[in-house]
Amino acid sequence: MAAVLPYTDDNIDLAAGALRSGGVVAFATETVYGLGADTFNESAIGKIYELKQRPVRNPLIAHVIDLPTARRVSTGWTRRAMKLVSACWPGPLTLILPRNPAVPLAATGGLDTIAVRSPKHPLARSLLYAMGGPISAPSANRSGGVSPTTAQHVASDYRQHTNLMVLDGGPCVLGIESTVVDLCESKPVVRRLGVVTIEQLSELLGAIEVDMPTEQTASPGSDLRHYAPSVPATLVAREELAAALAAGEPAAVICLPGVHIEVGSGHIRFEMPPDADGYAAHLYETLRRADAAGCGRIVVELPAQRSGVWSAIVDRLRRATSA
Ligand code: TXA
Ligand code: MG
Repeated sequence: MAAVLPYTDDNIDLAAGALRSGGVVAFATETVYGLGADTFNESAIGKIYELKQRPVRNPLIAHVIDLPTARRVSTGWTRRAMKLVSACWPGPLTLILPRNPAVPLAATGGLDTIAVRSPKHPLARSLLYAMGGPISAPSANRSGGVSPTTAQHVASDYRQHTNLMVLDGGPCVLGIESTVVDLCESKPVVRRLGVVTIEQLSELLGAIEVDMPTEQTASPGSDLRHYAPSVPATLVAREELAAALAAGEPAAVICLPGVHIEVGSGHIRFEMPPDADGYAAHLYETLRRADAAGCGRIVVELPAQRSGVWSAIVDRLRRATSA
């Protein structure tokens, strides 16, 4: 089992030392747990790809403590970028900017652009501060799997890696990955939905576009099937739930309040919080529990709402359930 370490000054120093000497460390952020390495150390970056079994063309997010560090990894700090940073950093917003040539191509999947984010979680910030430089980190799941929102999730994903340090910052309060906005096009383009909503971004920037991978356009690393449990999962509207459950073997059912499941039917019910923030915070944890429930399938109720954070939740549910 990977080693789960409590959030103490000594453990932060230990992890920062490991990062500075080219190691990989898992750590809490407010969105999901990340698997980090020194952005400027090509061989350390290589270890992330190896551990995650991530396609090498899938670029990483550089995590930074502040704007001066962001400038060490990126250029193109226009007024538009500054406006986003003043409103949303530290927090769950990732910007795509031109890559500073000092950053090895290995850290950006070979791209001339780089994703940058300043996380809000105190543990992530302490680690960045102690490390003294940017930390490139994807979500700490195995490639294609469900993102981890607790240190225990990471430890169980890397069961065989007994020397992987996992800094435990408790359950992630937001629970889904950051919103990704690409500022390298003439208009800002949202590449991934998250807790920073389209509504908030439009208010800050005016016209924005949304362009996310679909089955037709999916490029390596942005596959539609992502965040997926190992058991087959389907997404069905409430009106079709009863028929879907009647039609097959017992299921782990992830639903909103108000769905009744017959006692003795063999189905196992996982009730989600009715509000978007609560739903997002528990989404991945629930997908993992449903996956481990011992049923042959997972059936997820498709939430009816689409405003604000719900659009990001529905996006993740579609990916988790796409065949
Ligand atoms: O909340 C988060 O963003 C978490 C925590 C750990 O910070 N990290 C995370 O990283 O979700 P990852 O690697 O799982 O997702 C990064 C996303 C991917 O969809 C990737 O394709 C996109 O950001 N991305 C990274 N660099 C990019 C670039 N230069 N151009 C376009 N997309 C990029
Ligand atoms: Mg990920």
